[in-house]
Amino acid sequence: MNKYCVFGNPVEHSISPLIHSMFAKQTGHKFSYERIFSELDCFEKDVKNFVNDNGKGFNITLPFKMQAFKMMQETTLRAKIAQAVNTVKIEKNILYGDNTDGIGLVKDFNNNIKLSLANKDILMIGAGGAARGIIFDLIQQNPLRILVANRTKAKAQQIALDFKKYNKVCGFSIEQIKAKPVDIIINATSVGIDNKEILNIPKIVAKNAFCYDLMYGKETAFIKWSKESNASGVSDGLGMLVEQAAEAYFIWHKIMPDTKKVLSQLKATIYQ
Ligand code: ATR
Repeated sequence: MNKYCVFGNPVEHSISPLIHSMFAKQTGHKFSYERIFSELDCFEKDVKNFVNDNGKGFNITLPFKMQAFKMMQETTLRAKIAQAVNTVKIEKNILYGDNTDGIGLVKDFNNNIKLSLANKDILMIGAGGAARGIIFDLIQQNPLRILVANRTKAKAQQIALDFKKYNKVCGFSIEQIKAKPVDIIINATSVGIDNKEILNIPKIVAKNAFCYDLMYGKETAFIKWSKESNASGVSDGLGMLVEQAAEAYFIWHKIMPDTKKVLSQLKATIYQ
């Protein structure tokens, strides 16, 4: 049986095995997909073992996406731009790296939320790996602007500089966010449920905006803040997770699963 897996630290929380098994049921494929916990200094060794063990492909979750990028023999343009890899295909011991996070987010907006990103004023909070993984795909949707706000201003400014040629991205600190409404707010920080610090943003910014948190699961502080700020809609990142998994599935099995069914089944399980 062909072997696939997801590497992470931590990784127990990952629902990728569940998503891939739901896709497999749909398409009639048979393979194994397991979670592999990697110690921080063992990732490279663990990947080698998996390859030697005839693994066919793997996903990477935090904190190894950038390290994985450096280990690839070949990468797609979007992985090069993000300098991070979340999906790897193995063929004749060669590692092909891709990054399906950004397209996963875009597909969630276009197909599930049904909100076009074209001509929208987008505020993205955060300028770490997650933000870098999605920004290129966001730009491809032709938004009006992408305002990147980050606790550490220099990192937001660096992203703006890296994407300068598209003439759409500017970078500044969270304190510099102007008290003016935007169309869409994306939380790409690693701040989850408890932390209130990042919400030190004037509520008017989110009024009638669509607010999206890349995290999923329990109601995050950002989602709570968005609702209190009268956002027009909110979403966590479950749809993005399913869509990025579907893209990986396509890379490995050459068939695109029906994400809508899987997403609604997962929502029923996770949010019951
Ligand atoms: P990831 O791969 O999840 O993006 P990362 O590269 O460590 O992880 O980036 C984490 C992001 O969350 C960064 O934008 C970080 O801000 P800094 O660049 O200033 O570190 C942001 N972040 C983490 N904790 C935060 C907090 N308490 N308040 C605001 N932003 C925070």
